Amino acid sequence: MKSFYLTTPIYYVNDAPHIGHAYTTVAGDVLTRWHRQRGESVWFLTGTDEHGQKVMRTAEQNGVAPQAWADKLVEDAWKPNWHALNIANDDFIRTTEPRHMDRVQKFLTSLKDKGFIYQGDFEGPYCVGCEEFKLPGDLLEGNLCPTHSKPVENVKETNWFFKLSEFTDRLLAHYKNNPDACQPESARNEVVAFLEGGVRDLSISRSTFDWGVPVPWDTDQVVYVWFDALLNYATAVGLTDDPESEGGKKFAQTWPADVHLVGKDILRFHAVIWPAMLMAAGLEVPQKVFAHGWLLVGGEKMSKSKLTGIAPSQITDHFGVDAFRYYFLRAIPFGSDGSFSWEDMSARYTSELANDFGNLASRLAAMVEKYCGGLLPAVARDAELSAALEETVAKADAAMQVLDFQGGINAIMDYCKMVNGYVTIKEPWILAKDPANQQALEDVLYNTAESLRALAVLLHPVMPATTEILWESLGAKATLGEIAAQRIDAVATWGQLPQGANVTKTPVLFPRLEVKE
Ligand code: ME8
Ligand code: MG
Repeated sequence: MKSFYLTTPIYYVNDAPHIGHAYTTVAGDVLTRWHRQRGESVWFLTGTDEHGQKVMRTAEQNGVAPQAWADKLVEDAWKPNWHALNIANDDFIRTTEPRHMDRVQKFLTSLKDKGFIYQGDFEGPYCVGCEEFKLPGDLLEGNLCPTHSKPVENVKETNWFFKLSEFTDRLLAHYKNNPDACQPESARNEVVAFLEGGVRDLSISRSTFDWGVPVPWDTDQVVYVWFDALLNYATAVGLTDDPESEGGKKFAQTWPADVHLVGKDILRFHAVIWPAMLMAAGLEVPQKVFAHGWLLVGGEKMSKSKLTGIAPSQITDHFGVDAFRYYFLRAIPFGSDGSFSWEDMSARYTSELANDFGNLASRLAAMVEKYCGGLLPAVARDAELSAALEETVAKADAAMQVLDFQGGINAIMDYCKMVNGYVTIKEPWILAKDPANQQALEDVLYNTAESLRALAVLLHPVMPATTEILWESLGAKATLGEIAAQRIDAVATWGQLPQGANVTKTPVLFPRLEVKE
């Protein structure tokens, strides 16, 4: 069976991750968890981009060899960060691994054999921060890179070129015929306009430094870092391996990738160079490149190079990991830029997570304990709640399929609000005062518990740890099994929690925030 294959960018190890990198990787984690709960086979890849001058120079400035620098950042910063954020990636690729470097060389040789690589003279401006050849029109006054506000360097070398220009028409046709292949629409329009402006062949090797994959037939040169890096998506799943081998089978199972998730800063690499490389090799191009917006600081892209990065731990120490995972996807339409604001995050934490969701869970558990001895009463079905749940699931699933995380989460949280309204109107604490209302009371409690079951499952991809606690408190783990095994397409089936399930009080799901000094 073909897996749903999603990748994040592989991040430069010039520094530790900030919340911009976490934004992309959390989005990928939420989407892959959602697809797993749809019952699909899933492959989720992330990793690190370790070659090139940017990383090499950072290592030099720190007085260590580039490999030692990369090893340290991967082990002490990147991997622990993903672990702390509860990222369930299936693989982690580093571009300095032999499994990657060997396959890059094989791939490059095959393109040369096919006649897509030739030798030529290159001269032009290069930004090491972007690791990108620039056109004079791309630059600000004083030859500054607009992204890094630093002067570009002039590169003049004889190196190897990829016949990128040959693919312009095929790429244009591809995006016109497959609007889904580049999203959101603003990104696709940008790519189409760029292609329509004409594309030059690409220098894909460098001779003035050696931190990279050696060009197999000319070992005085190393492969251009982006040509090396883009290939990670395919080398990690067995590109160039014999079809009968393990790697070859993995490749057949995963390729083409379903989603390359990237920030809009690296859209052109992914939507122009990468598919052209694949076309040249006779391989299928990815189903979708999705370019999300930037987290801004003072109106500019938050960045490692500019030292404006906020470490994820600065936020998770205060709000917790699940609130972090929730907040950015909920607050910013995926595809648009957004600014992080402590005040906005505090406000949403309190109203949406602590009040709407967390309180509902703790009130239900307290009432089942008080009025029913901690055992869930008999199955009941509120027609409105049950119908609204069906709509919610359909809406959320449709939104998630098109990476509208905000729309998906809003649909689920609207249902949460509706359940709160239901409890408020039914006033179970009043019903409890008269034994004649026992049946009505029990119905309200069951319907509320069953709604919480659905909320736990639907929010599990976004907030895996918190929903797990809720799941156990509902007595669901003991009766329905693991929460991660609950299927999206079965959530709306009403009446799954059995009578007699042991409901226990949860630790508070979203504790009151401490006042920040
Ligand atoms: O570009 N807002 O790596 P990188 C949102 N190695 N997302 C942000 C962000 C921000 N302010 N800052 C970074 C590279 N990101 C290459 C990629 S892929 C074959 C090679 C996220 O460390 C976003 O996903 O500069 C962006 O595209 C990526 O980090 C860039 O990470
Ligand atoms: Mg960058």
